[in-house]
Amino acid sequence: RRNAMKVRIDAGLCQGHGRCYDLAPDLFGEDDEGYGTVLGDGTVPADGEQDARRAAANCPERAITVLKE
Ligand code: F3S
Repeated sequence: RRNAMKVRIDAGLCQGHGRCYDLAPDLFGEDDEGYGTVLGDGTVPADGEQDARRAAANCPERAITVLKE
């Protein structure tokens, strides 16, 4: 099977710009203060890879990491 892709947010870098959960609401959510959160365990479905990469590329703080396991 394919190697799973995962997304992660570095909470120390996130400033709550919200691009991640606007661009990829299936992958990211927000906490009570508007900081980005990863939904579930961050596993990206096969059809979500482009969204994951776009969210990472659009985070002004570069707080999002996309990992292949
Ligand atoms: Fe935070 Fe970047 Fe999303 S700053 S809310 S991880 S776009």
